[in-house]
Amino acid sequence: MMNKITVSAPGKIMLLGEHAVVYNRPCIVTAIDQRVSATAEFINEPVFQLEATEVGLKNYQKPLSQIGKGEIPKEAKFAEIAVKLVLSQKPTSKKGIKITTKSQFSSLFGFGSSSASTVAIVSALANLFGKKLSQKNLFEICYKTVLEVQGKGSGFDIATAIYGGTTYFVTGGKTIKPLPVTSLPIVIGYTGIKADTVTLIDQVKKLSEKYPKIVENSYDQIAKLVDSAKIAISKKDWQSLGKLMNINQGYLEGLGVSSQMLSNLIYAARDAGAYGAKLSGAGGGDCMIAIAPPSRQKAIEKAITKAGGKIIKVETKAEGVRIES
Ligand code: MEV
Repeated sequence: MMNKITVSAPGKIMLLGEHAVVYNRPCIVTAIDQRVSATAEFINEPVFQLEATEVGLKNYQKPLSQIGKGEIPKEAKFAEIAVKLVLSQKPTSKKGIKITTKSQFSSLFGFGSSSASTVAIVSALANLFGKKLSQKNLFEICYKTVLEVQGKGSGFDIATAIYGGTTYFVTGGKTIKPLPVTSLPIVIGYTGIKADTVTLIDQVKKLSEKYPKIVENSYDQIAKLVDSAKIAISKKDWQSLGKLMNINQGYLEGLGVSSQMLSNLIYAARDAGAYGAKLSGAGGGDCMIAIAPPSRQKAIEKAITKAGGKIIKVETKAEGVRIES
């Protein structure tokens, strides 16, 4: 039996379909080359230990018998619940477990650090126990973790951390279809503002309670544009993809999840020659994304910076979860 294993999983950036994907519609999401790694190892004491210095967590520890119980600090929640769910599927052992996570990106960007670390932790632990998990099993455990921690979410970020690449995804993993595309001509601008996904989902839910038909209709339209974007991406038709992203931004504005800062960066990118630009993720802050011809990308980066954004350089076509050592 091995004693220690390190697994990594990529972060993600949402291309189209956010919010609607929480309600049985599709989205398109791509993995990025910045990763979160998790090392799982056996220790002699029967405790659960967690080191996640990227979120300021050092020497977190509790008895294995208490895992998932009592007060859990925010920074430890995904890891602790993930470990609890894996342990609940195996015979009890006297050995303790230590998990150490490391991230190549800030948890502030909205690149899915919690979901990437959940996937890396579950996969590392399963491997440590010598258990082979299919991608589907891995998705189920990790999605359960997300639902237990935050109560809502489509699971698109979990799927991306597992499968990598660019995928067409429907709520809860009903469809997870890799799209035939390698790298995407994108520029990413960070607003400098941290968004809280659950708050924004709740905000949209309130709007849909007041105007159910209008909001449902917006979701239906978003689903249609996501389906058209799927075709555009498969043909590498970036101009059409850009137009569809602009329409998607219009619906997100309507749902009330954009912001002045996001709009500033989005218009700066469009004015500098992007095919299209929109917010990416829950909205309210985090990042915006532009699709642009390579010849315009430098000018777009400059324009976003001038408008107060920070350019985050990422490569797409990233590999999904993998064993590192
Ligand atoms: C957040 O990045 C995207 C949302 O659609 C939530 C989700 O799909 O889990 C708002």
